[in-house]
Amino acid sequence: MFFGLLYPLLFELSVLIPDPAFSQESNPVYREGNRASSTRTFLTRTFIKHEFHHLNVPLVGTVAVSDVFDCTLECLSNPLCYSVNLAAFKGTHGKLWCELLSSDKFRNSTEYKGNKSSHHFAIESPCSSSPCQHEATCVTNYRDGSFGCRCAKGFKGEYCEKVTGSCKEAYNLFKSNASQMVTLYLDSKPITVLCQMGDFGCGDGGWTPVMKINGHQETFHYDSLYWSDKNEYNTPGGRTGFDSQETKLPTYWNTPLSKICLGMKISGQLRFIVINMQANSLHSLIADGIWRASSLGRNEWKKLIGAQGSLQLNCSKEGFNAVCSLSRHSKARIGYVANENNHCDSCDSRIGFGTGGSPGNSTTCGNVAAYSPDNGDRYIKAMGYILVQ
Ligand SMILES: *[C@@H]1O[C@H](CO)[C@@H](O)[C@H](O)[C@H]1NC(C)=O
Ligand SMILES: *[C@@H]1O[C@H](CO)[C@@H](O)[C@H](O)[C@H]1NC(C)=O
Ligand SMILES: *[C@@H]1O[C@H](CO)[C@@H](O)[C@H](O)[C@H]1NC(C)=O
Ligand SMILES: *[C@@H]1O[C@H](CO)[C@@H](O)[C@H](O)[C@H]1NC(C)=O
Ligand SMILES: *[C@@H]1O[C@H](CO)[C@@H](O)[C@H](O)[C@H]1NC(C)=O
Repeated sequence: MFFGLLYPLLFELSVLIPDPAFSQESNPVYREGNRASSTRTFLTRTFIKHEFHHLNVPLVGTVAVSDVFDCTLECLSNPLCYSVNLAAFKGTHGKLWCELLSSDKFRNSTEYKGNKSSHHFAIESPCSSSPCQHEATCVTNYRDGSFGCRCAKGFKGEYCEKVTGSCKEAYNLFKSNASQMVTLYLDSKPITVLCQMGDFGCGDGGWTPVMKINGHQETFHYDSLYWSDKNEYNTPGGRTGFDSQETKLPTYWNTPLSKICLGMKISGQLRFIVINMQANSLHSLIADGIWRASSLGRNEWKKLIGAQGSLQLNCSKEGFNAVCSLSRHSKARIGYVANENNHCDSCDSRIGFGTGGSPGNSTTCGNVAAYSPDNGDRYIKAMGYILVQ
């Protein structure tokens, strides 16, 4: 074809092919130029030349051609062809090899490379403008010119522009009950946590880890500033599941919640209970020190401890910042406190997380009970887990 001689090295080639939905024309029409020349009755396919490039994906055919027009026409007449590689130099018989490709460089970007002996021709598509963000894969639907973004893990939205902020979102995104590492974007910075997916004891869905408290340590004692500040503690502990590493993650002040999963591990035995509560974050329920009541009842709280669970019979205050009026007595950032007298002055028993006060001030998570509790005196230190959904 004579066109080949007229084209400079860099060009756009428009091939107008009849759209069967609109036109009965049997002969394809080829025209140089821009898309302004297209009419409604034709689908426009503009091939964009990428000099000295090659896309290494499975072929749907190879043909020997005289020029780029023959090559692109072969591609357009094959419904499985989405782009072509064309020899940069003619072979012995004056022909060029033309590879018809089963994919495009947007979908298989890692297979697209510079190459001294090949030019690559890609059909212009919405993906040409790189609409998908965060290393997403752009997939063109060549039939109607639409496109879709296949997001990398942790991203969502039409253009993968949205980032995942909680394990609940990750669960809705991945639709899987397999617990997995997920990079959450909080305070606009990434943090990788182990998202607990599915029902491990707190019900279905994705559970975001928030804190892990060792009842033997004073890190998260009731009096610790960690309950009111926005400082993290040992974030790698957010990736290791129900073990004995303590942690406080940025999810404490960032992750909105409607359920709080509370777990205690005592002598290797894990037990869980759930509080239903709407809040902007766990921090918003605790940091100001104001008591916010829950209504699980003592038997539910005792489930965290098992058969050993013990509490006094009166006062019976539960929830967040559960304290009696004498602050040197039993208190809990999350938990249940009780007294033997019919008032809330001097509680001597508790089950909870972030605990402290008399008796057993050194127990920061677990069950402490003295002065006529309902199931004997207790000094049980637990490993505590707090997750939200
Ligand atoms: C091309 O990408 C698709 C998915 O986008 C993938 O399944 C396929 O393995 C890739 N092919 C090559 C040759 O890389
Ligand atoms: C360049 O393309 C040719 C033709 O398909 C291929 O055989 C060769 O391996 C490619 N070279 C590189 C460096 O990718
Ligand atoms: C996860 O498991 C629950 C049953 O515990 C099931 O109802 C749900 O459909 C599962 N979800 C997924 C995404 O597989
Ligand atoms: C404590 O509560 C129990 C059970 O509700 C009740 O029987 C008892 O009288 C109360 N004790 C005091 C000192 O008020
Ligand atoms: C209880 O323990 C905390 C943390 O170790 C400490 O700061 C506080 O002074 C103790 N309180 C009493 C009354 O011993």
